Amino acid sequence: MASERPVEPLLFVVLGGTGDVTKRKLLPALVRLRGEGWLPTPSVVLGVGRKADWDDARYRDWVRESLRGAGMAASPRAAEGDGWEECFYQSIGAGATEDYRRLRERVDALERSHGLSGNRVFYLALPPRAFPDAIRGLGESGLARGPGWTRLVVEKPFGSNLAGARELNELVHRYFDESQVYRIDHYLGKETVQNLLVFRFSNALFEAVWNRNHVESVQITVAETLGVEGRGAYYDGAGAVRDMVQNHLTQLVSLVAMEPPIVFEADAVRNEKVKVLRAVSPVTAEEAVFGQYAGYHDEPGVGQGSQTETFAALRFHIDTWRWQGVPFVLRTGKRMPRKLSQIAVRFRRPPVCLFRSLEGACLIASNVLFLTLQPDEGFAIHFQVKVPGEGFQLQTGMLDFHYRHAFGPLPDAYETLLADILQGDQTLFVRADEVEASWRIYDLLLEARPPVYEYAPGSWGPDEAERLATGAGKGWLVL
Ligand code: BG6
Repeated sequence: MASERPVEPLLFVVLGGTGDVTKRKLLPALVRLRGEGWLPTPSVVLGVGRKADWDDARYRDWVRESLRGAGMAASPRAAEGDGWEECFYQSIGAGATEDYRRLRERVDALERSHGLSGNRVFYLALPPRAFPDAIRGLGESGLARGPGWTRLVVEKPFGSNLAGARELNELVHRYFDESQVYRIDHYLGKETVQNLLVFRFSNALFEAVWNRNHVESVQITVAETLGVEGRGAYYDGAGAVRDMVQNHLTQLVSLVAMEPPIVFEADAVRNEKVKVLRAVSPVTAEEAVFGQYAGYHDEPGVGQGSQTETFAALRFHIDTWRWQGVPFVLRTGKRMPRKLSQIAVRFRRPPVCLFRSLEGACLIASNVLFLTLQPDEGFAIHFQVKVPGEGFQLQTGMLDFHYRHAFGPLPDAYETLLADILQGDQTLFVRADEVEASWRIYDLLLEARPPVYEYAPGSWGPDEAERLATGAGKGWLVL
């Protein structure tokens, strides 16, 4: 969604500069952006971390190793050296004021030595428990306001419930204006997620039937084959609702259900998304099924007897004129049979059934629109055709579109989001009221903790989850 505004030279400060997100996501994205000309010269990267004995040279080595690990050469600008001479390191303690004062001195010094005018990004690639100290440290040391623009980027999860999100928002707003804040949900950086807006608001064909009169139900499946992959300690304290549903899946709901914004601008888009979330009643334990894959307890970092859900399915309604009475059914899980993120919009059947079996059963299946976000990005429509020959036998046919046939490889979500941060475009970032509106939907459920059913790795989760989808139509739909 890059609007291609010019990017000014800047200092990119990564707190958590030696961590996993930096290594796997940020550095590769920065290198690609640099190669595409998004990072103007002179721009400087300053990694901030806890490793007290590291210096710039050690950090550059780590950066090179990380990039090689991610399958990338250090920089596409081979002719100009490997580019990472503009990369620096500053160690920091556990949030002491003194550390942030030193960080500020380093920032000032780097800007002076590189002739930068004071535009700064502070990216919190930190574990969530470290957000408050970092925000306070930046604020108290005066780093929230610089000589140029200052942008604060916060990774997910933003809070672990409504009260926590509010508290964190209050802390952020003590030092930063909301217009400086970029809350990351990397799903919003995915091409196909952004395409939901284009699909809906540039194809009058679909928008005309995008409502309760024509849509019977909306299902969203985000399945992963992976387990918790060494993140047991974090995941066990979070679970599927906090890790996936409150953010990624709920973002998908708001994009599917929102009204058209008046203009395509950050606040106009986000205003419409928030309205959707506000119209959802909090999910109850009766409308949810939790599961845990067999073997989860053996994962490192997971507590014995842990009741954390690695699968969650739930159902709610959106009380707006457009969606009244249409169930939205969501599910996500780890160790599922396939990696798949897909939205299935099931349309109502024709009001009168003309084609019936000899026994009188209606032969018409619903039209379903599948929007596949990953992998094999694209969409497909199921429709009914007559089987050639005597009588009226019906069969489901399919019209489909695949990104891979139409376009080359898609850009990485982080690259898209970073480009937007550099340009100051907040459209794809979660606003303060949006993150709170989203937690409000799940607070009750997280407190009520429905029973957790075990499921076999490689299955679609516990059988109990079937009832949520069958109530809305004929079972879970996947292509
Ligand atoms: C992250 C979650 O936000 O999203 C992970 O913390 C999850 O648990 C990941 O695996 C899924 O992202 P993607 O892009 O692979 O669908």
